Amino acid sequence: MIFYYSGTGNSRYVALQLAKLIRDEAVNILDNDLDADKLRQAIALSVDVGFVFPVYSWGPAPAIVEFVASLPDNILRSKYVWMVCTCGDETGLTHRMFGKSIQKKGGYLEAIFSVIMPNNYVLLPGFGIDPKDVEEKKLGSVSARLRNISESLRNKDTVVDIQCGSWPVLKSAVYPLFRRWGVQPRKWHSTDACISCGQCARVCPNHNINMSPDKDGKSRPVWGTDCLSCCACFHVCPSNAVQYGTFTRKYGQYRHFLKSE
Ligand SMILES: Cc1cc2nc3c(=O)[nH]c(=O)nc-3n(C[C@H](O)[C@H](O)[C@H](O)COP(=O)(O)O)c2cc1C
Ligand code: SF4
Ligand code: SF4
Repeated sequence: MIFYYSGTGNSRYVALQLAKLIRDEAVNILDNDLDADKLRQAIALSVDVGFVFPVYSWGPAPAIVEFVASLPDNILRSKYVWMVCTCGDETGLTHRMFGKSIQKKGGYLEAIFSVIMPNNYVLLPGFGIDPKDVEEKKLGSVSARLRNISESLRNKDTVVDIQCGSWPVLKSAVYPLFRRWGVQPRKWHSTDACISCGQCARVCPNHNINMSPDKDGKSRPVWGTDCLSCCACFHVCPSNAVQYGTFTRKYGQYRHFLKSE
């Protein structure tokens, strides 16, 4: 069984491709139709349990950490547990932090991989998506990388194959600050370029956006406070009308694996 969390689709793509390659089932942890009891039974019957998620601020995306924390104690004992994190460049100590979450559920991370994918981060000035040639280069190497990973998973290898980058301890030290201050939901807004299509609301993995009439009766997105900082609403907008504070007006959008359905 493969559990995944994804904002802009990179990790979903990786999870679905790996599911095909190793003939397993991929489950979106934020799927509204998930039945907690059936899920627990399914995990109990699984020999392998995998997790696929993006790196946020050199750590595991909080949504996947919270999902693991919600599982019953010892449910991962005696399983072959693996993780694949997708990242723009480097993971820091993501695997160590996630390994601790797994240990709390009686498991041990046997296999650890990263896949470098196009960057989607736009929430701080000075960051932004990759230039087109870098994006294409990254995407060009994904298939071969996933085939290698799937081979290791089929062999049940014990392996750490991850791009930590330089100064991982230092970089991952900012993760707790990210969890506390990484996104200020009030900064999300739509500009007058909004065409009321509702795609931002549909794409939000946490259902944090509602369409509501503005003072002129035009349907506009309204952001709630449960933002996962995934940036999907920013990237999906066909009019580039979703903005975060003032600086994102300069940033391009990343859409490769983003689907509004
Ligand atoms: C809030 C946030 C923080 C991020 N932090 C990192 C990071 O520390 N290192 C990195 O290489 N990529 C980082 N990224 C880029 C994503 O990990 C990368 O684009 C990932 O593949 C996105 O996955 P998704 O499309 O499944 O959401 C960050 C992205 C977001 C939205
Ligand atoms: S995706 Fe853009 S255009 Fe569509 S409703 Fe949201 S802000 Fe408006
Ligand atoms: S509001 Fe936007 S950034 Fe926040 S979780 Fe939803 S789609 Fe992601």
